[in-house]
This record gives sequence, structure tokens and C-alpha cells, in this order.
Amino acid sequence: MVNELSIGTLLESEDATPSHVLAAKLNRHTFWCGQSGSGKTYALGVLLEQVLLQTRLPLVILDPNSDFVRLGEIRDDAPADAAAQLAARDIRVFRSSAEDGAPLHVKFLGMPVRSRAAILQVDPLYDAEDYNVMLQLEHELGAFRGASVPDVAFDHTKLLAYLRSSDDPARHRLAMRLENLGVADWRLWAWGHRSVIDDIDERPDATVVDLGGFATPAESRAAALAVLDHLWEHRDDRIGRLIVIDEAHNLCTPTPSSPVEKLLTERIVQIAAEGRKYGLWLLLSTQRPSKVHPNALSQCDNLALMRMSSPRDLAELGEVFGYAPESLLERSPGFAQGQALFAGGFVDQASLVQMGSRLTHEGGSDVRVPLR
Ligand SMILES: Nc1ncnc2c1ncn2[C@@H]1O[C@H](COP(=O)(O)OP(=O)(O)O)[C@@H](O)[C@H]1O
Ligand SMILES: [Mg+2]
Repeated sequence: MVNELSIGTLLESEDATPSHVLAAKLNRHTFWCGQSGSGKTYALGVLLEQVLLQTRLPLVILDPNSDFVRLGEIRDDAPADAAAQLAARDIRVFRSSAEDGAPLHVKFLGMPVRSRAAILQVDPLYDAEDYNVMLQLEHELGAFRGASVPDVAFDHTKLLAYLRSSDDPARHRLAMRLENLGVADWRLWAWGHRSVIDDIDERPDATVVDLGGFATPAESRAAALAVLDHLWEHRDDRIGRLIVIDEAHNLCTPTPSSPVEKLLTERIVQIAAEGRKYGLWLLLSTQRPSKVHPNALSQCDNLALMRMSSPRDLAELGEVFGYAPESLLERSPGFAQGQALFAGGFVDQASLVQMGSRLTHEGGSDVRVPLR
């Protein structure tokens, strides 16, 4: 068993001394920070590959830029033994666009009523009647779905028809909301198909939840909420999991504006505060510390910092992450791509690192300028 995850070499070491992250300390929350283009996502991939190679810790990756959709595809230049081991790992990728691969689906009716109401912008107090209908449906549809009607047959047209079959105006309003907001038509919904939640429950080595290809940000956030709701609801199972959230400011903003954004921030802050004892460990990656809710930030005992040139952001990091030595923090503006400061519980001591090379392919290819 290897506790040391090899991530690269110590910067400025004469003989390229290997540098490690302690696998056992991924049972803390981790903050992964650096300005755009500093190499956060690439470096994150280096760490996650090692987690896959050396541990049995299941990864759930919320991937807003489709950067990890090729995590299962090994580069030609990867060392043969690592390539063989990685090839044997169970890495499941769920796509939000119509591209190749398994589609990302979740069950609308499987989500907590509070989350479903947020998606439909139904407020429990201001829209008391409509919310109440959603509560009633919870029971009715439970029976409806469970008994005579097989799940496969139950789709958005059936749900809308069911709502309109009643004389209750609140039910008609709900049907209209589903249609008017476009929610009924979302590609995200599984209806009778398999949900990503079913796969997560089988505990593959990694589940990549590609959030980058949906038509609207609302759909992408609803997908993330469904996954996080599920992990939280089943927290008593105490299955250690690493929940990786790239571009975490999308899901854990200090200034949420929509009801779904509010629930997402609330959920992530809750996992940050209480998730550790249930084995729900976060890895939050973002460009600036101020873009993530401070109550999530302050719970992170591990820090990886890549290039960041803003003195204000560095000062904030110094305040929140007292364990990161100032003398090393102030080196960050001078980092080249792929260089990082690691500090906190998951390293023996705070150190500067040149990240190693990826073994798997990066996804999310940029649009290239066509050359003549
Ligand atoms: N250590 C590295 N070695 C080689 N290429 C890298 C390295 N780090 C980043 N890159 C490349 O630089 C670009 C930006 O990196 P990325 O990880 O996407 O940055 P960020 O997530 O911080 O915006 C990508 O095209 C990536 O392939
Ligand atoms: Mg990135």
C-alpha cells in the first residue's frame, strides 16, 4: 500500500527530488487555486491519476468544462505499468452533450422536493399552494411510479398530462411552470432511463459528471445539485469519497442569485462543515479565493496554489490558510505554468512543486484559430 502519491518534483531541488501528497490526508477538504491558465486542471489531473493508481478512494468529479471526460484514455507516452493499471480502473464518464459516451441523466422525481421546487422557482411560502401540490405529488407519484406504471413509460408528457387531468388550478400552474421554464424538456432528466446516481452508488473508481455541454447553466447546476443532494442524503453510509469540483465558483458562490444556486452553495457549505465525519471530502478548485463561499474555504485543511498575481487574493489566502508560510505564498506571482505551492495536512511540509506529466488525456479542447 502506498500512502505517497507522486505528483512531481520539488522546485529548485538539484536532483529533482520527488514530491508527494499523502493519500491518507485526502480525508480533509482541499482548496486548489490559481489564476486562469496557471495549470490547475492539468495539475488536478496529475493528482487524480495517482489517486486512481494508488488508492481505492472513489472519485466523483463535477466537471463544468468537460476537462476530465478523457480521464480513462491513456497517453501513448505513459509508462507501461501505470498505463496497464489505469486501464484496469473503472472510470465512468457521463456526457451532457449529445457526443459519444453515456448520457448524463438524473431523475427529476428522485430529487428532494426542496430542490425540485427550486428548479421550478416555486417558493415554499410565497407560492404556498404550488409548493403544497409538489409535496402531494411526492406521495401520489411514489405510488403511481411504483405500482402499475413501469418507470420507462413515465416521461415529461405523462407528468404534464397527469397534472392537467386534475381540476386543481395549482396543478395546472405547475404544469405551466414545467413548460414555460423549459424544464420539462431538459435533456438531463432520466425518466425511465438509468440515472448517474445508480452508477455512483456502484462505487466505480471514478465518476466524471460532465456539466459542460448543457444548453443552459440552469440545467448544469441542477445536475450538480442532484448528485450532491444524493451524496448528502446517504451520508450515513459513510463511504469515503473525494468530491472534486473544478471551477467551484459556479456551484459555491458567496453571492448566489437563483434558488438553485442558493441550495448548491448551502449544500457545499454544509458538506464543508460537516461532511468530513461522513467521509464526504471536497476538493474545490477555482481562480480566486473570494469567488468561493468563505464558509467552505475556511474548512479546507489542504492547499494547492498555482500562479496568482493579485496581491489582494494572496493576502486573503494568507489569512484563511495560516498554515501556508508567507515566504512561499509570495512566490506565487512568479510561478510558471505547472508550478505550485502545496501546504497543509496532505504534505509533510509546505513546499514548492513542479508538477509531473499527465498519464491520461485532457478533454475540453479549446477552439483553435485555423491557420493557413
Ligand atoms: N504542467 C503542465 N505541462 C504541460 N502543459 C500544461 C501544464 N499545465 C497546464 N498545461 C497546459 O496549459 C493549458 C492551461 O492549463 P489548465 O490546467 O487548463 O489551466 P487552468 O485550469 O488553471 O485554467 C492547457 O492547455 C494545458 O494542457
Ligand atoms: Mg481549469
